[in-house]
Amino acid sequence: MLKVGMLTSGGDCQALNAAMRGMAKTLYNHYKDEVKIYGIYEGYRGLIYGDYRLMQPADFSGILTRGGTILRTSRTPFKDIDEPTEDGLDKVDSMIENYRKMELDCLVVLGGNGSHKTANLLFQKGLNVITLPKTIDNDLFGTDVSFGFWSAVDIATKTIDNIHSTAASHSRVFIIEIMGHKTGYIALYSGIAGGADIILIPEIDYDVKKVADTIRKREAEGKDFTIIAIAEGAVSLEERKLGKKALKEIKGKKSAALRLKDVLLEYGSFEVREVIPGHMQRGGEPDAYDRVLASRLGAFGAKLISEREYGYMAAVSGGRLIKLPLSEVAGRYKTVPLDSEIIRDAKDLSISFGD
Ligand code: F6P
Repeated sequence: MLKVGMLTSGGDCQALNAAMRGMAKTLYNHYKDEVKIYGIYEGYRGLIYGDYRLMQPADFSGILTRGGTILRTSRTPFKDIDEPTEDGLDKVDSMIENYRKMELDCLVVLGGNGSHKTANLLFQKGLNVITLPKTIDNDLFGTDVSFGFWSAVDIATKTIDNIHSTAASHSRVFIIEIMGHKTGYIALYSGIAGGADIILIPEIDYDVKKVADTIRKREAEGKDFTIIAIAEGAVSLEERKLGKKALKEIKGKKSAALRLKDVLLEYGSFEVREVIPGHMQRGGEPDAYDRVLASRLGAFGAKLISEREYGYMAAVSGGRLIKLPLSEVAGRYKTVPLDSEIIRDAKDLSISFGD
């Protein structure tokens, strides 16, 4: 009998259910009655507290298109992993103990960057672990893409689309703040898809004066509105000069869109509005791309388990599914390469990055 535990950890995203379904269907298909899947609730928290239940094939039925995660999720920050829980439990010891109690052959973690650090630690402690890459931010090292990303891009694009008509009617400058944590992937792709005139991403510190110049240049060309897609992690040249600590403080007080709005008004009498779609970008059903990707990654993960190939993340490289050692993924971060073709192409489209 094969026993597999599954958990979803960190911020949710679209296609988590699709990925679990893909894995469960493949395992039930191959092992029939010889596999037991345990659903562990609320991420690593459920593993720490032994909060899980034996799943049935029917639990994975009808969830392909459902957003969120049927197992719920929570954040268990890796930086605090050695600190006891509020009620005094050693987190790592408790997770190992529950894994053993459940007599698992493998723990499957659907997670992003932080979750991969913990997954790698548990693997190093002797647990059989495999992971599936989930995050809207697309910042997981080693995979070309993670599920959730394209669904978030679709929603952000729709937001920009909707803003376009009202911006044009009122001759306004709109700043749309896009999620993405420390990277600008969602802002970059949705910005291009939505026809943003200016895209500001954390990878390129922007010059407010150049942003203002682009707006004025558009006005001079008879284009009375401007769409700015700004990633939540984007920072101006001036802000960067403040240093890490002060920057963290100002980021905590005001979001990227509002900070830009404030300074932009010092450079011209623009009529500026900001829109922050926030968690909408993580919500709702996965798009077709993510459904296919997550289903395939889930099935691929099941194959790794069948072959007893543990300690890997299922990933995409050059359009193919590959396995990548957790030690190579954990603690590393993927950002938009500055020399990437997509940035060059966007610049050819006369999109300004404020640089
Ligand atoms: O990592 C996904 C993400 O949505 C980021 O884009 C965003 O910065 C963060 O999570 C928001 O976290 P929370 O859901 O805890 O507010």
